[in-house]
Amino acid sequence: MLCASIGTVWGARSDAPELLTGSDRAMTAPATIKPQALRSALGRFATGVTIITCVDADGQRVGLTANSFNALSLDPPLVLWSLRVGSPVFEAFEPATHFAVNVLAASQVELSRRFAAPVDDRFAEGHWSAGLGGAPVLAGCTAVFECRTHARLDGGDHRLYIGEVLRLAEQDIAPLLFHGGHYRMLGEIL
Ligand SMILES: Cc1cc2nc3c(=O)[nH]c(=O)nc-3n(C[C@H](O)[C@H](O)[C@H](O)COP(=O)(O)O)c2cc1C
Repeated sequence: MLCASIGTVWGARSDAPELLTGSDRAMTAPATIKPQALRSALGRFATGVTIITCVDADGQRVGLTANSFNALSLDPPLVLWSLRVGSPVFEAFEPATHFAVNVLAASQVELSRRFAAPVDDRFAEGHWSAGLGGAPVLAGCTAVFECRTHARLDGGDHRLYIGEVLRLAEQDIAPLLFHGGHYRMLGEIL
């Protein structure tokens, strides 16, 4: 339930109405924001789901499921995403000259789970090919953005990567969505 999950940060009762009032908002000072509450509220922001890939210094393929991907600039063509600094894949992405953003189709939900789980070889499933700079490109995605690393920025416990899009592809197929901690499919056009 919405109210139950954010009750600790907003001070709302579990039986409170779902719409938060102005006085509810006033109860939350910035210093009281807890990571768990922030994660929960951010989860209300529906996103697509990507698998972002690169090759490490030894040429080994590396990738993870990420929904922090977003647009940044059209001219020049820039995109961004963020990676947890403590992630096991951080050492590979930090020096990487290129990365590929594979935007998943709804039919690829199992690959999304796989690339967020501690499995030995994440690339053992799916049809992968080497893209620009060796970054693995997945067949059957709704879009692919092949990027050169343009900038790396400090982002607290995450690192923000900005990529210059060098090549892209798209297909008009149903995307995979993520909302409130659940995978979803696209609904009706409003
Ligand atoms: C839907 C979804 C989105 C995610 N988005 C990100 C992200 O944007 N950045 C990130 O660092 N981790 C993100 N993660 C977590 C990573 O996929 C996961 O921690 C990473 O693959 C490392 O796994 P490991 O610690 O088992 O190797 C996301 C996970 C899921 C399920």
